[in-house]
Order: sequence, then structure tokens, then C-alpha cells
Amino acid sequence: MELTQEEKEILNGVQGRSAAKAMQILVALGTIYGAQRMLPVSSVQIAGVSYDNLGEAGLSFLDEMAAGGGRTQVLATLNPAGMDVENWQTLGISPQFAAQQQRVLAAFARMNVITTCTCTPYLAGNLPHFGEHIAWAESSAVCYANSVLGARTNREGGPSALAAALTGRTPAYGYHLAGNRQPDLLCEVQARVEGTQAFGALGKAIGDRLQAAGQKIPFLRGVEQASLEELKALCASLATYGGTALFHMQGLTPESGQVTLPTDAISIQPADLEQAVASLNDADPAEVDFVSLGCPHLSLREVAHLAELLQGRQVRGEFWVTTSRPIKQIADRMGYTHVIEASGAKLAADSCCVVAPIKGRFQAMATDSAKACYYAASKNRFKTLFKPFDEIVMAALKPLAQPKAQS
Ligand code: F3S
Repeated sequence: MELTQEEKEILNGVQGRSAAKAMQILVALGTIYGAQRMLPVSSVQIAGVSYDNLGEAGLSFLDEMAAGGGRTQVLATLNPAGMDVENWQTLGISPQFAAQQQRVLAAFARMNVITTCTCTPYLAGNLPHFGEHIAWAESSAVCYANSVLGARTNREGGPSALAAALTGRTPAYGYHLAGNRQPDLLCEVQARVEGTQAFGALGKAIGDRLQAAGQKIPFLRGVEQASLEELKALCASLATYGGTALFHMQGLTPESGQVTLPTDAISIQPADLEQAVASLNDADPAEVDFVSLGCPHLSLREVAHLAELLQGRQVRGEFWVTTSRPIKQIADRMGYTHVIEASGAKLAADSCCVVAPIKGRFQAMATDSAKACYYAASKNRFKTLFKPFDEIVMAALKPLAQPKAQS
């Protein structure tokens, strides 16, 4: 790779040993993928934050990078941690885990990474604009940034995202190059798609077809409208089941009018969506002992809607609502948190049902998230019930008390 004078100096340790290590990681990555040069990035999202996934080895790496003088050069934010940082006891997290998780966050903070702890950085102050080169980890957010925002990022891993944060650079390959953003599969959506669960099912149906065909970038035609929440559900699901980092959607995503339509085409029929839904439902409703909403983290609109549904009602069993800290703070101010917690549900910031250490705690999880279903089964060995958001909430409510009969 051809490096600038400054990049060579970073590599030679002029900016300290952690920056040098970071540059080594990026040069190795660029060499593997045939990059000619580095690109400056303006925004980084770092994954690999939960101590449940990092373990001691990951924590030592972070400590070493912080001790070696590693400091972020650009806006850098964090993915969810293994617990609600301010209220971890409510989620049944052990003090031992909490202590280790705090050490992870302290190491990031020492490097000036902003400890947002959310997988929706675009709703929490890290919102890149069209065409901006960024280095994001977190597959759902990568898909959202590339597709919905039109920013440019590869799917970074935890170490390469941290390396980008410490140097302000990323190798110029993959989705950073315009020629690599062309779609390779036309998906004619001939089904009505509405709501986060349906968009998650659409992501699974298309993702499975992409995997089978070895294709990467779908162009969706036939979806007439999609809300922010539906798009974030689609991104999470496409990334999970199709390994997708970028899609185009006619009339809805910013590059959709600039790309060439692929000749390979499939159609998605109502039966494909039904099959995707059925494949993620292996729990009997009576078995459900855990409800989880907020994968990806809930938006303000979703939290407000949930508060409406839970107003004056009680839920049975463990019910988690996961979101980012800024949205939780607005929910506190608006009284949504009070309504949700009065129902017995837990409004947890900073974390989620996938990165929290809950393996073995539950038998069957109900969710509207296709991505959460995948990890509930593969990581935590839970059965799953995959239903629309409102249905999940309604099924979790205790019956209303009957008014006493007049004597
Ligand atoms: Fe976010 Fe956790 Fe889902 S990180 S996308 S809520 S698995």
C-alpha cells in the first residue's frame, strides 16, 4: 500500500505504540483486500463491547491499547455493553460481571471513545451524511449507514474499527469504492410489508436467497414506503441472514436512482414471508418466559408507542425493553419510563438480549426482531416466538381485573 508521510510516521511509532499497532492492523487489512491507499474517516462505531463476548483476552487488548497512548482522532462511539451501565442490578447481572464490564468501558473512555453503548449510533449523535467515509462495526448499523444514509463503510470488526478510531484512517477497498456499490440481485417484492416484524421477515427471506446464490447487494423493488423503524429492522435482518452490508430500495434509498439494475432477479411472494416467519417460530406461546423488544435499540417513537400500550396494565414474566441512553433519558422526561416500569417491564439502556450474559436463564423468548431470534437460538439456546410488536406486547399483558358485581 502507498502510505502518506504522516501514515508512515504513525506506523513507525511517532504517535505512540498504540497508534503504530493500529496502523499495522489497517495495513495488514488493506494488503489482504488489495487496497492501494488509506482513506480518512470521520466517524467510527466500535463493536465488541460486552465482557460476555470479549472475555479477559479482549479486555487485556483494550487495556494495552489505552496504556500505549491510544487516543481517538475522530468521533468514535460504542456498541451495546453486557448490561445497563447505571442500573445493571435490575437485569439480574452479577456484581463480578458488572465490575469487568466497567473495566472494559473505562479502557474505551481512556482512549476518548464516547461510551454511547448503542447499536443505533445514528439516533444518538453519530449520524454520517451521504458519501462520507466512515469505519463502522455492528452489522445492522453498517447496513443502515451504507444503504439508508448513503455513507460508505465496510463491515469492520472490533479491532479494525478501534484501529480506524486511533488513526482516523481506513484502507480504501470494498464499499468505499463507488464501483463496489452496484447491486447484483433484483428482488421484486410482490407482498405487502408493514411493521418491524414483517420487514425482519423480508430481510430473512432475501438474506437466505442471497446466501444461497452467493450474492451480496440486493436491489429491492416494490416496497412503497418504509419508516425509520422498519428500515432498521430490515437492515438488522438482512445483515444477519444475508451478510448484507448494503442494499438499494427503489425510491427510498439515496443511491437507488444512480445504480444499474442487475439482470439476476427473484421475486418475494407472501408465501416467502410466511415461510420466513414460520422458520423463526419454534416456541409455543405458553412456553414464553422472556419478552425482549429493542433489537436494534428502540427509537423514541417505538418507546412512546410501547408506553401507550402498557399504560395502566401489568405484564407477566420478564420483559426487557432495550434502547440507547439518550432515548431513555427523553423517555424519563416524558414519563414513558414511569409507565413502562409501572407495568413491570424493564426499560434498559446500553445493552440488549444478545450481548447480556443470560444464557440458560430463560426457555423461550418472544420478540419482533428477526435478528434477535437468530442469536437467541444460536448464542443463548432459547426457543423463539416471532410476532409483530403490538401482538408481543398484548400477549404479555395480565388480564384486566374484572369490576366487582353490584350487590
Ligand atoms: Fe443491537 Fe443487540 Fe440487536 S447490539 S442489533 S440490540 S443484537
